[in-house]
Amino acid sequence: MLDLTHRPRRLRSSDFLRQMVQETRLEVRQLIYPMFVSEKVADRVEVSSMPGVFQHSVEDLVKEALAVRRSGIPAILLFGLPQVKDESASQAYAPTGVVQQAVRALKTAAPDLIVITDVCLCEYTSHGHCGMVEKSRHGYRVLNDASVELLVQTAVSHAEAGADIVAPSDMMDGRVGAIRRGLDGRGLTDVPVMSYAAKFCSAFYGPFREAAESAPQFGDRRTYQMDPANALEAMREVAIDVEEGADLLIVKPGLPYLDILWRVKERFGLPTAVYSVSGEYAMLKAAARNGWVDEKRAVLEMMTAFRRAGADLVITYWARDVARWLE
Ligand code: PBG
Repeated sequence: MLDLTHRPRRLRSSDFLRQMVQETRLEVRQLIYPMFVSEKVADRVEVSSMPGVFQHSVEDLVKEALAVRRSGIPAILLFGLPQVKDESASQAYAPTGVVQQAVRALKTAAPDLIVITDVCLCEYTSHGHCGMVEKSRHGYRVLNDASVELLVQTAVSHAEAGADIVAPSDMMDGRVGAIRRGLDGRGLTDVPVMSYAAKFCSAFYGPFREAAESAPQFGDRRTYQMDPANALEAMREVAIDVEEGADLLIVKPGLPYLDILWRVKERFGLPTAVYSVSGEYAMLKAAARNGWVDEKRAVLEMMTAFRRAGADLVITYWARDVARWLE
């Protein structure tokens, strides 16, 4: 005899019923859209490995950001590509740098759009590393503390230009606390720090390095980004950022790190974002273009999985499509 006391299917019999009992919801206000502003392009240039993603001029960026705002997306995450790169990443913290210019223009045109700036040196250094590098006969060394000083200057200059939130993605030790003190010292006490707290050394950043022109010219990022094999170490690193005053946390990449996302949210309870990175975007785009997966269904499923795993916010190159699909 079949025991029919428990019949989960009962709650799946209609769309209304399914929606009523749905545990996880995805909303447009949970999305953050990454954008690239370049000093070198006239209008816009599409990133070949990321169809639908562009490098924008400041003017074009503002136009696009207004459309983003109209779609209901509350925030963008901004990356800059300078005209010139040098050993000390001087365009990262120049008051006239491309991000600083763009932030001023954005805050004038769309004051209520939340502008989050990515704080890193890799787009600005001639060698493409996220910090200062010392070369010797034996190879090279990334200089942690000297890099942190420049990151503080970068974050402060973004905030002084009007950035609403600064997001350090460099992964140097001690940068969250140093940036917090730097901001406070300039009276920018209300600017939150959104830390890339668990950022793994991942092959899934490949297409981004084309978009941001930031591939390292030698070596790799293994000495400062995290080992994909280590979850406990990731928890220790996140704990340090929380102690240093991070207001929001980012876990990155997304799909291969849902377990990390879950642990971070459970353990720390801070507002947590997941960054679904360029490689995740590129692989699904490629499959969709071949007709191998249904892009809309796959993307919405992925976004729902991020929310289910604990993400309050999702940073995604699909933000504009998702906003449209959720309408
Ligand atoms: C800069 C930075 C990277 C990404 C965001 N900020 C690249 C890297 O660490 O090499 C990757 C984002 C993506 O792949 O979409 N440090």
